[in-house]
Amino acid sequence: MRRILCIGAGYVGGPTMSVIAKHCPDVEVVVADINPERVAAWQSGQPPIFEPGLQDVVQASLGRNLRFTADVEGEIGKAEMIFVSVNTPTKTFGQGAGRAADLQHWEKTARSILQHARRPVIVVEKSTLPVRTAEAMERIFRNRRPDQRFEVLSNPEFLAEGTAIADLEHPDRVLIGGAETPAGQAAMRELVEIYARWVPRDRILTANVWSAELSKLAANAFLAQRVSSINAIAAICEQTGADILSVAKAIGTDRRIGSGFLRAGVGFGGSCFQKDILNLAYLCEQHGLPEVARYWEAVVALNQHQKERFVHRMVRVMFNTLAGKRIAVFGFAFKANTGDTRESPAIRICQELLAEQAQVCITDPQALEGARQLFASDDGVMFEPDPYEAADGAHAIALLTDWAEYRALDYRRIQAGMERPAFLFDGRNLLDPEELHQIGFNVYPIGRPDRTSL
Ligand code: NAD
Ligand code: UGA
Repeated sequence: MRRILCIGAGYVGGPTMSVIAKHCPDVEVVVADINPERVAAWQSGQPPIFEPGLQDVVQASLGRNLRFTADVEGEIGKAEMIFVSVNTPTKTFGQGAGRAADLQHWEKTARSILQHARRPVIVVEKSTLPVRTAEAMERIFRNRRPDQRFEVLSNPEFLAEGTAIADLEHPDRVLIGGAETPAGQAAMRELVEIYARWVPRDRILTANVWSAELSKLAANAFLAQRVSSINAIAAICEQTGADILSVAKAIGTDRRIGSGFLRAGVGFGGSCFQKDILNLAYLCEQHGLPEVARYWEAVVALNQHQKERFVHRMVRVMFNTLAGKRIAVFGFAFKANTGDTRESPAIRICQELLAEQAQVCITDPQALEGARQLFASDDGVMFEPDPYEAADGAHAIALLTDWAEYRALDYRRIQAGMERPAFLFDGRNLLDPEELHQIGFNVYPIGRPDRTSL
């Protein structure tokens, strides 16, 4: 393998190819995207996304064996292996709107590969796709010219934003699905050889294509289900006086359950969990399994409820009115260590606060620009990089993203500048409620007893 192309220079394509380029200095890695600004940012060595450690990895290979370009078609003609890492959002129109995956970018890419490929190519699905999409791709490729040969593999990506580089460097597993034919097996071996440069062999799993495709949707569904499950228990805790941290510890120490993904919060966000579960549910329905579809949909419904419940609690304890009150929103990214705001719980929560006619002041170390694109100043929203300024004169703080820097703030100083009584709603259980209470806050952590002294 001498030349790899990745189509799609987003959160997955950029980091994944940078790590492949790092470990395969003898392979030329090209990342192509239709968005010229994104391409220019990557090619300048200043990635268009914030991801810890990414810039160093990109800069180490740029100009050596890593290149970003907007010439998608030209590069297809030269590649031996093509990763497809375009976005597959939820469809917003027509059949399956709001649930099915929108495959238009993926299909355009497949047709473009068919049109421009000039040699045998291994096509690798990196995007998250509905089960049997590889088969659809193969059908598109059936119209090939005699000089063309395609082998389609599924190689779903499991990285999480904020830890992408560590996840790519030390993955729990790499999953490769391929056809059970000699050509399919040979293509799989080629891809295994690439990952084997830095991933231990026993962590490289192979499967048939459909199992690989389904495993990706299943993994995200299971992870999201855990978040909704712990959030459901958090709701009971708030009603009964139990403490979700004790409950999560007690159940997480059971080895069969495990301790990961049991942090209660304002609900899961990000571009994938909701999209992939809805996609899975849609797939279930298409295959005559409506009860299974309902089961997974409940995970998303509970997630919506969690965000609404958070604001209901705010309204209730703040004397049933937020009208005209300044609320400082600490964190807008969907999780810490990313600037990504896609499906961030903060979006829905800010909308609910605005519906209550609150004045919302958003602060975030990386996602303020993303917030600006979603809300305008005339909506009653302010954008403030400095959390101390954001909280100045506020009636309440709603902490929505688990940025470590929010732990290090001087809350005594913050409280001094706030209206009284000063409320703090810790949507991530990031802060020590006892300490905040001592300072004079009325503290409302998720799934934990309130600490109030009006
Ligand atoms: P993204 O929106 O950040 O990037 C997709 C890129 O594809 C964009 O830059 C877009 O311009 C480009 N693109 C679209 N159509 C194109 C075309 N025809 N030719 C060339 N470029 C084109 O999306 P992402 O977050 O990187 O996700 C990509 C896929 O990976 C999705 O299927 C997603 O579900 C999956 N995934 C994402 C993550 C994550 O953490 N974001 C993790 C694992 C898997
Ligand atoms: C998730 C998966 O973890 C990745 O394996 C997968 O590749 C990716 O989706 C994808 O397909 O896009 P990501 O969305 O980047 O990664 O981030 P997570 O760490 O999974 O967090 C998702 C959301 O759940 C965040 O809003 C986070 O704050 C929330 N969460 C997570 C909780 O509320 N509690 C937890 O215990 C864990």
